[in-house]
Amino acid sequence: MDEQTPRPPSRRTVLRSTAGAAGAGLGIGALGDRTAVAAPTTAPTAAPEAVTTPKRRGATMAGVPFEGRATVRVGIVGLGNRGSSMINNFLALPWVRVVALCDPVRTKVERASTSVVSAGQPAPALYAHGEDDYENLCARTDVDFVYVATPWDGHFPIARTAMLNGKHVGVECPAAMELAELWELVDLSEQTRRHCMQLENCCYGRNEMRVLRMAHAGKFGELLHGAGAYNHDLRDLLFSPTYYEGPWRRLWHTRLRGDLYPNHGFGPVAGYMDLNRGDRALTISSFATPALGLAEYRAARVPSGDPSWKETYVTGDRTISLLQTAKGRLIRLEHDVSTPHPYSRINSLGGTRGIFEDYPARIYLEPDHKDDQWGDFGAYAAEFDHWLWKEHANPPGGHGGMDYIMVYRLMQCLQLGLPPDFDVYDAATWTAPLPLSHASIKAQGAPQEIPDFTRGAWLGARAGVDSAKPS
Ligand SMILES: NC(=O)c1ccc[n+]([C@@H]2O[C@H](COP(=O)([O-])OP(=O)(O)OC[C@H]3O[C@@H](n4cnc5c(N)ncnc54)[C@H](O)[C@@H]3O)[C@@H](O)[C@H]2O)c1
Repeated sequence: MDEQTPRPPSRRTVLRSTAGAAGAGLGIGALGDRTAVAAPTTAPTAAPEAVTTPKRRGATMAGVPFEGRATVRVGIVGLGNRGSSMINNFLALPWVRVVALCDPVRTKVERASTSVVSAGQPAPALYAHGEDDYENLCARTDVDFVYVATPWDGHFPIARTAMLNGKHVGVECPAAMELAELWELVDLSEQTRRHCMQLENCCYGRNEMRVLRMAHAGKFGELLHGAGAYNHDLRDLLFSPTYYEGPWRRLWHTRLRGDLYPNHGFGPVAGYMDLNRGDRALTISSFATPALGLAEYRAARVPSGDPSWKETYVTGDRTISLLQTAKGRLIRLEHDVSTPHPYSRINSLGGTRGIFEDYPARIYLEPDHKDDQWGDFGAYAAEFDHWLWKEHANPPGGHGGMDYIMVYRLMQCLQLGLPPDFDVYDAATWTAPLPLSHASIKAQGAPQEIPDFTRGAWLGARAGVDSAKPS
């Protein structure tokens, strides 16, 4: 590690200093604002907000391989719904050992420890002494990779600490909550030579990987537009007293007006279009509906006197963002977790030769289809399914198997010493719409510049999720 690399602050220190910067009195918790929750501005549409690219302090991490190791040793921070489900994907791989677990809730680490032992592995070290105990997990010398599945405000400080302690790190979405934090993750990854990855499982869905391969094979012609979303009715869960560890997720709806979860929609489309690998996202313009859904749900379902009655929700029930790429392509992102609707990540791609739309999957490509009749997407499985899905036709685990496929591939890269399919530049790019959609909505849809986190390296073609099968 570079001698000048700063020491990691504790998570509490990060949160305290962030709250200080936010200004007192908002009553909205630690990350109130840099991009404060404000009444709609009446300012005229502004030019894109200038983004200053910080000076590079380390070499690029694009294409940098892992070291390679016979056994990959994993530490897991956060064992709630996600962490306690994902642990089974790590435990399913014979070359992976889960050596340390951390969560302030002791019963959760103990339950996860039982899973490790039941899988035939030695009992892991447990860290359950409060919010900062992840620092001790990160300081261990027998951990190669840290997986972070905590509430969103924990992703940045824990990823930061992991890298400063010499660990590769994979965080759940979103990678961080602010642009400055995304830049810091990029800089730290480059300085520490550790990979910091956003574990975007949706990139590994069977449909997404098939579309990816078809796009790269030219089946859509020249790519023109794509769309992705997180349209998932979470109202029951957001108000459940037991599902999440506290109300952290609902509270974000009192803080930011934009797209709180852009990664699931953006990651796959970014892959189709080779963002950071030949194209890049330049600007984002975002628009929001009124925020009514959560308050209406609360009025109908939540007893008066519940703490949620003190909350004022500001996140638009549906936000829609339009991104323009350097090649002139358009990407539409949507977010809606607070109104009734069937689940959809939209997952669409269009080009000069046709279009794919998901939910349900349908395709229309020339010369295969005609007369305005959608075609059968399944007909392309044999030729275009990704090798990972051919090798693992019925993968175990959640979300239709894509969680397992992602973990399998990442752990394979760590074992074989391959570059990861996605890196810190992708993590920052896929997350940037979160703070920038908020900024754009505050400015009545004014386009915001999306930083070039690669600092110019986006022009070069390189492998991504569309990987070749290792020999
Ligand atoms: N990729 C996906 O498909 C997917 C699905 C669900 C959730 N997620 C993400 O996973 C993350 C966790 O979501 P969840 O549903 O499991 O929430 P959760 O509330 O069930 O779990 C969060 C866990 O983190 C623990 N925690 C809080 N602060 C901590 C700290 N300082 N150190 C260690 N542990 C800490 C909590 O005690 C809790 O057990 C979120 O970022 C969410 O967006 C991703």
